[in-house]
Amino acid sequence: MIVAPSLLASNFLHLEAEARMLNESEADWFHLDVMDGRFVNNISFGLPVIQQIRKATNKLLDVHLMIEEPEKYTEAFAKAGADILTVHFEACRHLHRNIQQIRELGMVPGVAINPHTPVQFLQDILHEVDLVLIMSVNPGFGGQQFIPHTYQKIKTLRHRIDQLGLQVKIEIDGGVDLSNAKTLQDAGANVLVAGSAVFHAPDPKQVISSLKHCTD
Ligand code: DX5
Ligand code: ZN
Repeated sequence: MIVAPSLLASNFLHLEAEARMLNESEADWFHLDVMDGRFVNNISFGLPVIQQIRKATNKLLDVHLMIEEPEKYTEAFAKAGADILTVHFEACRHLHRNIQQIRELGMVPGVAINPHTPVQFLQDILHEVDLVLIMSVNPGFGGQQFIPHTYQKIKTLRHRIDQLGLQVKIEIDGGVDLSNAKTLQDAGANVLVAGSAVFHAPDPKQVISSLKHCTD
């Protein structure tokens, strides 16, 4: 299991220390949530913050864009140091082109879907992406409750990916914690994003380790 702690739940006043903690942990990726106040009703952080985080870690930067017209910023996120760039299905009029653009700029492309978007809508883009991020809460805020219908979506998508013989990873984002990690793994998830479950815990490194090995 790949574990990607979401820095949205970290202490922004101590980002360097939070990055150091993640560097010392079993976390695989840093999950960075960029929000524009248009695609979602929240504004988080953007390019200058990501540039600084880039200097603080060698781990992969998994950038989740919750913004309209992400194609306008693809190059800027590549320059800022993003390794994985995930755009929302619902925000892209020309998703196929956007995905190609991400790959041409040397990043790993991902597509994210909101809770209301069927996984079947990804049928014609699955061959082009390395990652599908299934939102298990409505995007915009950390600390929300996991939507159980997500399990069915993971199973359906995993079945389709295997059927096609593809290596696409399934990443789950929102309300992930030690109580659902194992069930998510069994359903076919490869990547777990966790914000509150990690950063609001007394021992974040221990939670990361438990998520990684799906134990509690
Ligand atoms: C929400 C973000 C998530 C968020 C998850 O829109 O995409 O990455 O940080 O936070 P938790 O794990 O607290 O639900
Ligand atoms: Zn996210």
